[in-house]
Amino acid sequence: MRSMQTLVLTLNPNIPAPHAIAQAAEVIRRGGLVAFPTETVYGLGADALSARAVQGIFAAKERPAYDPLIVHLATAEDVMLVAAEIPSVMGALAAFWPGPLTLVLPRGPRVPLEVTGGGETVAVRVPAHPVALALIRAAGGPIAAPSANRFGRLSPTCAADVLSDLDGRIDMLLDGGPTSVGLESTVLSLAGDVPMILRPGGVSREALEAVLGPVDVCGRVAVPGEISSTPGALSQHYAPRARMVLYRGPMPALLAELRHEALRLHAAGERVGILLSEEAWADFADLPVLTRSPGPLHNLEVVARALFSTLRAFDVAGVDVILAQDFGPQGLGLAIRDRLTRAAGGAVVMVGKESGADNARFV
Ligand code: TXA
Ligand code: MG
Repeated sequence: MRSMQTLVLTLNPNIPAPHAIAQAAEVIRRGGLVAFPTETVYGLGADALSARAVQGIFAAKERPAYDPLIVHLATAEDVMLVAAEIPSVMGALAAFWPGPLTLVLPRGPRVPLEVTGGGETVAVRVPAHPVALALIRAAGGPIAAPSANRFGRLSPTCAADVLSDLDGRIDMLLDGGPTSVGLESTVLSLAGDVPMILRPGGVSREALEAVLGPVDVCGRVAVPGEISSTPGALSQHYAPRARMVLYRGPMPALLAELRHEALRLHAAGERVGILLSEEAWADFADLPVLTRSPGPLHNLEVVARALFSTLRAFDVAGVDVILAQDFGPQGLGLAIRDRLTRAAGGAVVMVGKESGADNARFV
């Protein structure tokens, strides 16, 4: 990995200075790497139509070449530049753009196989962030961008997070402040008869179903009422450094079990962190452990926005183990559950009637 100076330019996220955008666009056109804010998380951008530029992304992130990238466009009409076919539901889905929805479509011939992980589909989205849109326009073409973190680490929701993973590995970082959604986009495949969510994210399943009718959720994802993933089968994505366990099940049994386990681990000499809803926080204030809340159960937008920074805060505090509360499967809850399940590497304890206290399963 070659080392370079990373130039950081601070921007007004709503009215980005044209000269800064022009400078960043020049880096993209030369085949360089620019990290930039989107409404979801920060992306690491390169010219999507240049195989060599895109290879730079994989090197900087230490990402395996088979993991495909999302192509970012300035407008929905530009889908024609990168996709071989536009499905008929595109018109209805355009309502979500600009926004946190990524569509998997047949790959157009101009898109290098480096972008698609060697496959014949391409993922596309129009981000809802003035800096991202200005950069794509100024670069004059689509920008391929994964989340701007090293492979296997949490996605960055502010410029400092990007630097902690990629400083000296990328040409430029546009600092547009913290991101507003805080979780990555929903990745939706339109390949089958029924649309399929490959990764839950900033657009909820319910919102998609209101437009498309029934939408399936990929079996890799933790869905309501069923546990389809085994710990080993889950990719080690979104991982904090501390080991982590997610607790699922009905209240108040879930919180009682979490409390019991926190005290047990503390007594065993471990530094324990607990990730809780705001509603539950007061009940845990007396424990000799580090409790943090990303937000209230009744406002999952707030929880999503603060989720990754809360997980990072546990790492900064140096806890050995994080015990996390589930936030349910509704709306953004599904994406929150997916990220917590992955951060836990699949270590999920189901609390409740069917499992009972002494046969709580790791699933
Ligand atoms: O919100 C986001 O989606 C952010 C911002 C920067 O746009 N990007 C992001 O990219 O999260 P990344 O690379 O970290 O995650 C993209 C996900 C990966 O899970 C990848 O496997 C999937 O999208 N993906 C990309 N292209 C695909 C394709 N052609 N078919 C199926 N999945 C694809
Ligand atoms: Mg990522």
